[in-house]
Amino acid sequence: MTCEDPTRSSSRSRVHVPKTGLALDTQPQPFAGYTVRDATSEDIPAMIRLERQSPEAAHWSEPQYAAAFDEERGSHRLVLVVEHVKHADEKPQAMGFLVANYIGPDWELENVVVAPETRGKGIGTRLMRELFERAKQANGVLVHLEVRESNQAARALYEKLEFRESGRRKSYYSNPLEDAVLYTRRLP
Ligand SMILES: CC(C)(COP(=O)(O)OP(=O)(O)OC[C@H]1O[C@@H](n2cnc3c(N)ncnc32)[C@H](O)[C@@H]1OP(=O)(O)O)[C@@H](O)C(=O)NCCC(=O)NCCS
Repeated sequence: MTCEDPTRSSSRSRVHVPKTGLALDTQPQPFAGYTVRDATSEDIPAMIRLERQSPEAAHWSEPQYAAAFDEERGSHRLVLVVEHVKHADEKPQAMGFLVANYIGPDWELENVVVAPETRGKGIGTRLMRELFERAKQANGVLVHLEVRESNQAARALYEKLEFRESGRRKSYYSNPLEDAVLYTRRLP
């Protein structure tokens, strides 16, 4: 669930999330100096750093992120990171990430975060489109998410990507108390 504690989500069955292989869409995808790739547990510090810069994002602890990568303990998540390379001799910098949970045959977007200084360049869109592609390859049917009512940037992103409002949870978020808006999108 977007902006949510991962312990509230449940995994019902195993899924193979395509990571590498034949399909072009599962390879690291460069776009305008940025690359989307599968995250590893080594990306956790960068993900936490990004998330802490974004009050609207879901806030997880380090062990919760570690659990997201722990397939042996039943995590069926897709975790993507966007990197930017300024110069060939520099280490790539993580500028955004996405976490989605498989609850077969549907997917729940749990978090999507872009570094404040690189927002508005299409990175959030690129991460979401990669999720759609991977979910489709894993025979996914729907993507669900929930978001704070006041999170206009995220809601505009979801609506642009053809998510439809599917419900509300009254006073779901605290600090400040606010409704969650639920969105669903059918995979093509
Ligand atoms: C939501 C978020 C991921 C969007 O990332 P982004 O890279 O800036 O998004 P994009 O550049 O791909 O924008 C796609 C569309 O989203 C909408 N959008 C993005 N930022 C917006 C803003 N500040 N206000 C209104 N609409 C916005 C626009 O419709 C935009 O399309 P356009 O550029 O054609 O107008 C980013 O703002 C963010 O990290 N927010 C903090 C964390 C968060 O709220 N996560 C979601 C809930 S957990």
